[in-house]
Amino acid sequence: MCGIVGYVGTKPAWPIILQGLERLEYRGYDSAGVAISDEDGDLQFRKTVGKVVGLTADPLVEIPQGYAGLGHTRWATHGDASDANCHPHTGCYQDLAIVHNGIVENYLELKQYLLDGGHHFTSETDTEVIAHLVEEGLNQGLPLEDAFGRMGGLLRGSQAVAVMKQGDAAKICAMRLGHAGGILVAHRDGETIVASDLPAILPMFRLDMPTGDVGFLDSGEMAVITPGGVSYQDLQGLPLHKELRRVNSEDVIVDKGGHRHFMLKEIMEQPQAVASAMRGRVDFSQGRVMLPEVPYSLGEIRGLSRVMLIGCGTSLHAAQIGRFLMERLAGLPAEFESASEFRYRGAPIDPNTLYVSVAQSGETADTVAAMQEIRDGGGRMLTICNVSGTQTTRLADATLYMHCGLEIGVASTKTFIASLTILNLLAVYLGQARGFLSPGDTRVLVDELARCPALIGSLLSDVSRYQELALRFNSYRNFMFLGRGISYPVVSEGALKLKEITYIHAEGYPAGEMKHGPIALVDEKMATLVLAPDDSLFEKMLSNVKEVRARHGVILGIATEGDDRLSGEVDEVLYIPPVSEHLTPLLATIPMQLLAYEIAVLRGCDVDQPRNLAKSVTVE
Ligand code: AGP
Repeated sequence: MCGIVGYVGTKPAWPIILQGLERLEYRGYDSAGVAISDEDGDLQFRKTVGKVVGLTADPLVEIPQGYAGLGHTRWATHGDASDANCHPHTGCYQDLAIVHNGIVENYLELKQYLLDGGHHFTSETDTEVIAHLVEEGLNQGLPLEDAFGRMGGLLRGSQAVAVMKQGDAAKICAMRLGHAGGILVAHRDGETIVASDLPAILPMFRLDMPTGDVGFLDSGEMAVITPGGVSYQDLQGLPLHKELRRVNSEDVIVDKGGHRHFMLKEIMEQPQAVASAMRGRVDFSQGRVMLPEVPYSLGEIRGLSRVMLIGCGTSLHAAQIGRFLMERLAGLPAEFESASEFRYRGAPIDPNTLYVSVAQSGETADTVAAMQEIRDGGGRMLTICNVSGTQTTRLADATLYMHCGLEIGVASTKTFIASLTILNLLAVYLGQARGFLSPGDTRVLVDELARCPALIGSLLSDVSRYQELALRFNSYRNFMFLGRGISYPVVSEGALKLKEITYIHAEGYPAGEMKHGPIALVDEKMATLVLAPDDSLFEKMLSNVKEVRARHGVILGIATEGDDRLSGEVDEVLYIPPVSEHLTPLLATIPMQLLAYEIAVLRGCDVDQPRNLAKSVTVE
């Protein structure tokens, strides 16, 4: 969370930093600020509460001119979204600019030390201690990079920080501490961009130069950027050799493709998301799943006794569905848990368990920390991720990449569908390796999975029905989403989408639990969505539908095409094509995404950047 962009080069820094901040806004949009080193080497600050666009909203505010600067888009942790709390922060003399992503866990103790030393604070943020600590070093005559490195040694917690100093124009120092708060450096032809994420480095690419080399900082590493280039060092100033990674411009392009919102574009890309996740992983002539990424021998796979899946938010719902898939298709006992719970539970790490984490961003702090626990305990671990080279991909034994292109909408859609596709493939792979599935079973399973892109495409072909439903349901204040078995995590995901982007209260609930409490909420003002596909639990679902109906609840059902049993019992019904139970989540998710999207549009909500959220949750 929070986006950092810095530029040192030959072009005006302001537009490059602003564009970069706009591309990183998915990381937080509570406030935005920029500091430019002007032609006299003085730092010029501009700040706004709210989105980056606010920085240019007032035509009377002069745009600062200069060839180096730092910018920040904030997701508030310490202190509200106000001018005073907006980055860049500075010390007592306004001659430093500090931008920060993460949390200084020991900031109270450091602040007290600094207050005792006579420093004055102007914000409520934890970040401001960083500025004053650097200032202390400078006051003692240290050069900027030494003062910055020494400050880094005093901080506790995970973070990325960058600094500029008045009078040391055109120099930026950046560092990474801990697992969260990624930061990278791209340099070409006298220009350098330092940023939290790849989309901000787009100006480094040209049509004739579609690739570039990027240095991703690891914990305890610093980059010192000047017009002469970039050097890497540790916090003590010892030089480091940084392996650069080749990046393609396609990996960083952010474009709505003609759609009104990124979320809608990403919903529409879901047929390709399934196809891309399968590409190179299925041998259709043999009817087998191949996962060349999985590094374990047949003996190791046969020796597994359990699968443990972890993730957060939407990725946790994918993990929960993964549990069913591992049990049904691989014949392995399986469990799932929120990474934020797992990381502190002190669970013994079992050598015969396969740990699987799901994290589209690869940077979610809780997932990274849970994976570190597993790594430290010597566990076998795979991860499912959409962004290459991220923290989770470095902690796992191997990564099953989603390959579905950058997801910009803060509410995850296509990465959920890609995760489910990969979890299906992994379950079948384990099932075939363990002899739990026969070659005939496997062929049927992969053939059916291969039909899913077309089936999802059919669900996306006409959104007008969702616009009608949005008109009917947008005024409800409370929604209950009911499902059973594999459909329970699917409705939990549907409820999460609705609450994230429409701010309507919605809860996913196992339908069998409804009568143990939530039924007290049901009346004519309560909307209930029931997912009741034609599976082994349909009759049970129908009983729950009748219980809601008897209490005058308003019901929107999702049923299987050709199955009329639900239509007479609910107020509205949507249909999904018939598929096997383990593939229902891939299809049933789509109507819930579209319903949430259309309600959000009707209510005038900020679909791509809902309030209080951020795409990469890099703090606890
Ligand atoms: C999904 O719509 C949410 N924005 C959020 O719950 C997200 O899934 C969660 O923060 C986990 O992200 P990850 O997949 O990058 O780990």
